[in-house]
Amino acid sequence: METTPRKTLRILVVMDPLEQVHVDKDTTFGFMLAAQARGHEIHYCTQDGLYALPGGQAAASCAPVQVWHRAERFFERGAWADRPLSYFDTVWMRKDPPVDRAYLHATYLLDHAGPSTRVLNRPAALRDANEKLYTLHFPEFTPETMVSRDAARIRAWLESASHPLIVKPVDGHGGRGVFLLQKDDRNVPSILETLTEDGQRWIMAQRYLPEAREGDKRILMLDGVPMGAILRVPRADENRGNIHVGGRVVRTTLTPREREMCAVVGERLRRDGLVFVGLDVIGDHLTEVNVTSPTGIRELLALDGIDVATAFVQHCEAAACP
Ligand SMILES: Nc1ncnc2c1ncn2[C@@H]1O[C@H](COP(=O)(O)OP(=O)(O)O)[C@@H](O)[C@H]1O
Ligand SMILES: [Mg+2]
Repeated sequence: METTPRKTLRILVVMDPLEQVHVDKDTTFGFMLAAQARGHEIHYCTQDGLYALPGGQAAASCAPVQVWHRAERFFERGAWADRPLSYFDTVWMRKDPPVDRAYLHATYLLDHAGPSTRVLNRPAALRDANEKLYTLHFPEFTPETMVSRDAARIRAWLESASHPLIVKPVDGHGGRGVFLLQKDDRNVPSILETLTEDGQRWIMAQRYLPEAREGDKRILMLDGVPMGAILRVPRADENRGNIHVGGRVVRTTLTPREREMCAVVGERLRRDGLVFVGLDVIGDHLTEVNVTSPTGIRELLALDGIDVATAFVQHCEAAACP
């Protein structure tokens, strides 16, 4: 059988400092290992290495890297160099949240990578899709949700509802600022004042889903299709399932309802250029759409043998200009 040789991709990974990665857990590092195993050329920069040249071409101060899955000396970096982003076939924007001013400005620079350089996820979509507010596009799949900066409005809902509420900042991540509000808790006014910064910040209030005790499912979506899922089970003394705050990762499968959700949400993700995304699902309800730097591929590989990293790299190979 005749096989055409695979094109070697030039890949730029925009990420937090490589020195800080957890070699066994980090999703971006997993992508890099898979890309290297398939013979591609990997370069690395941090967000602050991005700039634009006279004429409007975006560029980066970046370095070639090699990576290894081992505890010591897990990467070797070549010399820093200045390269236009058009040098690369693909740029992977994998900077961790927060989505702050610097992050948004970085996406504006990435808009100017050039016509033959594919930036993943699409920079305009990263600006457009707030990880919490994006769920408002899919009310049929979310728990009852209110977004407000008005503490009185949220308290009125809590008073009239037959269930507790979860409140969280709309730009939170890793479980930060997530509170459970019970009707008789005298901390409620203070929590709402603090989270809304006295009415200056929008927050999301949501029906408390008791199924959160069983776990928060992370469904990994590649090009709009679910690749697999892991379940993050909170500690007994914790409301939040995030791995970052001690959530334990266990095997899971998708329910028929979740497959329906993936079909509807996936169609929109594809349209928006959100290629690699993590959906957070509690008791069949969509609570968050993680688009900036979703994680979980290493755990999925360990638990189910599903290799999302290689699939992601193959996706980039298929999409690259010949
Ligand atoms: N509606 C909800 N009901 C019950 N628990 C929730 C709800 N929303 C969030 N949580 C808990 O809070 C954690 C973090 O919430 P999430 O919306 O995923 O924000 P982030 O992960 O960005 O901090 C979840 O893992 C879950 O344990
Ligand atoms: Mg989450």
